[in-house]
Amino acid sequence: SEEKGNQIRVWCDGCYDMVHFGHANSLRQAKALGDYLIVGIHSDYEITKHKGPPVFTEEERYKMVRGIKWVDEVVEGVPYVTTLETLDKYHCDFCVHGDDITMTADGVDTYHLVKAAGRYREVQRTAGVSTTDLVGRMLLMTRQHFRQGPLEYDVGHEGSSQLGLDSDARSPYTGCSQFLPTTQKIIQFSDGKPPKANDKIVYVAGAFDLFHVGHLDFLEKARAEGDYLIVGLHTDPIVNRYKGSNYPIMNLHERVLSVLACKYVSEVVIGAPYAVSKNLMEHFKVDLVCHGQTPIQPDADGSDPYAKPKQLCKFKLLDSENTMTTEKIVDRIIRHRLEF
Ligand code: CTP
Ligand code: C5P
Repeated sequence: SEEKGNQIRVWCDGCYDMVHFGHANSLRQAKALGDYLIVGIHSDYEITKHKGPPVFTEEERYKMVRGIKWVDEVVEGVPYVTTLETLDKYHCDFCVHGDDITMTADGVDTYHLVKAAGRYREVQRTAGVSTTDLVGRMLLMTRQHFRQGPLEYDVGHEGSSQLGLDSDARSPYTGCSQFLPTTQKIIQFSDGKPPKANDKIVYVAGAFDLFHVGHLDFLEKARAEGDYLIVGLHTDPIVNRYKGSNYPIMNLHERVLSVLACKYVSEVVIGAPYAVSKNLMEHFKVDLVCHGQTPIQPDADGSDPYAKPKQLCKFKLLDSENTMTTEKIVDRIIRHRLEF
């Protein structure tokens, strides 16, 4: 922890189970209210006691929040009810939470103490994204949440209406997500910093669907290969071509925000071509292209999407040392839903 001085120190706390860009957006707003942001995260034991077991382990949850670029410090295993002692211990001026009420198992507002002491501030929850909504999309094994072409604006009917469990997270357009992406949000999430003249530029591309600890470990390694990391995100139809089923769970706009919130990422290409071309490499002055240990799916014509960087000796396979995948998350969540 840093010297207090005259800086404003902000406290946030929560479960941060299945971290998504809604969580990131609340941390972004919290950080903007001060100079230094500390995030307290509840242990598995504490969450289980108050609302049932989380899907992600505390180690995974701590790591995900540490990866968010507005977070200066994480405190592990904080109590469910925020106390003045906790704020004082970490020299925080006030506590910030989204504009929804959180209760303990006994129905007590978890922020009643800090509210009474005038050390509570509220930020706006991000509409259209929640764990409940994402789970609904996973259970919904159809493509309705990202229908293209004439069906895109067709009001959803079967399936989604029963499974979109969170009423504020549904849309008349897709029958599932109501998150409305704006350029404003992208600006707020992005650094807007171009690479410096001698920066070594690293490029990676992928789906980065349901941004998870495996992605985070991979991006940390990729960033360590250079000074400036560009992440290319494939469009929803491209991801669906090689992943099948109802993938991606998050649409391109949502994946952009999830990746932009990561502290290792410098820039994002919105809708990157599947194959890494010479043209793309020249355009972004790419020095190195990386991919993790997951299989490299061939392009639509059967060719290797990394043929060009390989030929230019600008390709490197990295080992994230993490075996998490989007598919494993979907499996874990479906099992969790059946059990609890
Ligand atoms: N949050 C937000 N927007 C969302 C979801 C969460 O601003 N769409 C905020 C919450 O208001 C809180 C913080 O993220 O300040 C972390 O709280 P947590 O207990 O993890 O969030 P939940 O409300 O349980 O979020 P979800 O249901 O999406 O998991
Ligand atoms: O599967 P997806 O396209 O989202 O993966 C993006 C990148 O992250 C790929 O290079 C993949 O190999 C890498 N990754 C990884 N470790 C994981 C999951 C993904 O290195 N556990």
